[in-house]
Amino acid sequence: MERVREGSARRSALGNEIIVVDGAGRTFGRGNTSVEALAATTLEVYEGEFFCLVGPSGCGKSTLLNLIAGFDRPDRGRVLVQGRPVTGPDPRRLLVFQDYGLLPWRSAIGNVELGLEIAGIPREERRSRARALLERMGLSAFEDKKPHELSGGMRQRVNIARSLAVDPDILLMDEPFGAVDALTRMGLQADLLELHRAGGKTVVLVTHDIEEAIYLGDRVAVMSERPGAIRAIVNVDLAWPRGRTSAEFTHLREVILEHFRLVPERRAPEYSI
Ligand SMILES: Nc1ncnc2c1ncn2[C@@H]1O[C@H](COP(=O)(O)OP(=O)(O)O)[C@@H](O)[C@H]1O
Ligand SMILES: [Mg+2]
Repeated sequence: MERVREGSARRSALGNEIIVVDGAGRTFGRGNTSVEALAATTLEVYEGEFFCLVGPSGCGKSTLLNLIAGFDRPDRGRVLVQGRPVTGPDPRRLLVFQDYGLLPWRSAIGNVELGLEIAGIPREERRSRARALLERMGLSAFEDKKPHELSGGMRQRVNIARSLAVDPDILLMDEPFGAVDALTRMGLQADLLELHRAGGKTVVLVTHDIEEAIYLGDRVAVMSERPGAIRAIVNVDLAWPRGRTSAEFTHLREVILEHFRLVPERRAPEYSI
């Protein structure tokens, strides 16, 4: 693995570490049929950071995110969040899935209110918080619509609004835009970026889309094939707004592709024509 570059300047710009993955690994099953999904992994995510994890399908991204979320436990090493070992899920640390997970019988606003209801927030306050979030997501006109009456992009906006409603410190996002078309995806990325920049939450986003990771991330961790391991962590020191076709952007794309050995001209001679 390439040395992880985490200079002191980065550290002070981003605050303290909020997530510490300390040699955590996960193997599913036992004996001959066991699958090592995640090799012993060490990384830190800083408070307020937008941290992206990219890697091929099946390389252990969700496994790692589930360990951070507390849905699963490592069989080696440990995961600390806010200085404490993770022992289970916690509303301060929410996992946003790709498939929305909205309740089909509830309206958009009813779905956004769900977590607030569970937290025992009074009806009036619930409504006004949910309404404000839907407005921020550009969905005011759709608050009474059921999920099936919304487009995929809108459903994911409702899903994100629902997660933000309970004001978590950390948002863990597992390929949240995987199910929407490319243009909708870009719109959602811009929305998420705006929310992050306004709210200062820590975000860990898993994606297999390198461009998405560079567009959104402060740092991008590149994962190897299974068993997943962090191959490198790339700092994205690009100013906002990030033009996806700028020379710096393209350069970072090349850097990441190179970690995946996907830059044609750098391939071994037997691949050349
Ligand atoms: N609960 C499980 N039981 C057995 N194998 C699993 C389980 N969860 C994941 N795996 C395996 O671990 C590997 C990594 O899975 P996953 O973390 O979901 O990958 P990714 O999210 O990067 O696509 C895959 O080979 C997958 O089949
Ligand atoms: Mg996954």
